[in-house]
Order: sequence, then structure tokens, then C-alpha cells
Amino acid sequence: MSNSPALLLRSRLTPPISAITAYDYPTARLSDEAGIQLILVGDSLGMVVGGNPDTTSVTLEHMVYHTEMVRRGVDQAVIVSDLPIHTYNNPEAALESSRRLIKAGADAVKLEGGLGQIEKVERLVQSEIPVCAHIGMLPQRVVEEGGYKKKGKLKSEADRLLQAAFALEAAGAFAIVLESMVAEVAMQITEALEIPTIGIGAGNNCDGQIRVLHDVIGSYPWFVPPFAKVYGNVAEVTREAIASYVKDVQS
Ligand code: KIV
Repeated sequence: MSNSPALLLRSRLTPPISAITAYDYPTARLSDEAGIQLILVGDSLGMVVGGNPDTTSVTLEHMVYHTEMVRRGVDQAVIVSDLPIHTYNNPEAALESSRRLIKAGADAVKLEGGLGQIEKVERLVQSEIPVCAHIGMLPQRVVEEGGYKKKGKLKSEADRLLQAAFALEAAGAFAIVLESMVAEVAMQITEALEIPTIGIGAGNNCDGQIRVLHDVIGSYPWFVPPFAKVYGNVAEVTREAIASYVKDVQS
């Protein structure tokens, strides 16, 4: 894969990799201007933009629409777009859905899951579509798993995660997100793989970190995940500005 799109993308990511989600033109442009290396148009938009309890109602049409907005705001960062649930049930569906996201402006796509996704990753990579893998806690499975649970606590589970990570790398993934997993397991995977690991709730020893924009800037105060560090208070600034406007109109 010497000059493959996946390898070219990887060369644009220098550990420690800073990654964040963005869903529209202003958040993408501000993230890019701040020097973020990778922007994920995450299906978390179903929650932090759409107000839904999880990501399972997000469609390909939503992702195409938001990817187009993000593309217009980005000059430097690598743009990865999520394949939403049910849009990659088999390799052909994965290819067709990914082509829509690439056409909308994504440099790469992300899909959730381990050994069950290998054929799909291979199919996409063969078709020159770079793939970011995603293992550990899988938000698209939250309903069937009955909640958000940390992964890798049992040795058997940790072994499965390591096996999946190896297989996804061998299938051609250019990077892998490790979500909500025991830090020690994430570190083991990071040391074992050549491709970069990008952690969220997976300790400090990954090759990079990714966070949901709304957690970082404090613009979704109604739910903040336990691992999130909040760096701003956009919710308060927004409330105060609107309240001042209301007061102005009333006076
Ligand atoms: O959709 C998303 O925001 C994600 C991140 C949590 C990695 O997949």
C-alpha cells in the first residue's frame, strides 16, 4: 500500500494526534483554525445536535448533509465521517455508503466493530477508501448491550479486543479508535499495533485522543461523560447573550 490513500492520510497524522468531532461549518472551521489534526463527523451528532438518547436514529442522509458542511470549513485537518448504523451491513452496502460520504467531502470513513467487520474493511481499502476502525464500547450497540459499559475488564474480553485490533490493522485500517476501555488494555493495543490508536475514555497511553466537541467546549451541559474534561462554558455564554438580547428587546 505504498502510495495508497490510507498511507497518505496516515502521513498527515503525527502522534500525539489531536482529534475532535465537528458537525457544521463554524465548528469545523474553528477546530481547523485551532490546529486539530483530525475532525470526525461523528454520528454522536444524533445526540449532541439532534437531542436523541443515542446514535441509532442517525441516517446516511444526515451524515452526508453534515459532512458537506464540515468540508466547507476545513483546510488542513483530515476529515473522517461515521458510517451510521445499518448502512454497512455487508461489504457492498459499506462500499456504497462510504462512496456517498467520500463524495460529500470525507477523506475517510469510520465503522464500529471488530472481527465481524474485517471483510468490509478489506472491501473498502481495496476500493481505495481509507477506513478508521472503532473498537471497545460501541455506541451503535448501546441498545442491545443495555447501556454504556467499559470494555476489557475480563481477560477474555481484553484478548478479544487485542485480536480484533490486529485483524483490523491487517485488513488495512489506517487508524483505530479505542472507546471506553481499561487503560492498560488500550496501552497494550497501542504498543502492539503500527497504526495509530486514538482513545476516548481509554487512558493516556494511546497515540492520540478524540473528544466530542460539545464536551470540550461545554455546550451540552445536560449530559457530560465521566471521562470528559470540560475546557469552556459555551452553554453559559450562550444563555447570557440570549438573556441580554431578550432584556434589550423588552426594555
Ligand atoms: O460519533 C462519535 O462522536 C464517535 C466518537 C465518540 C469517537 O464515534
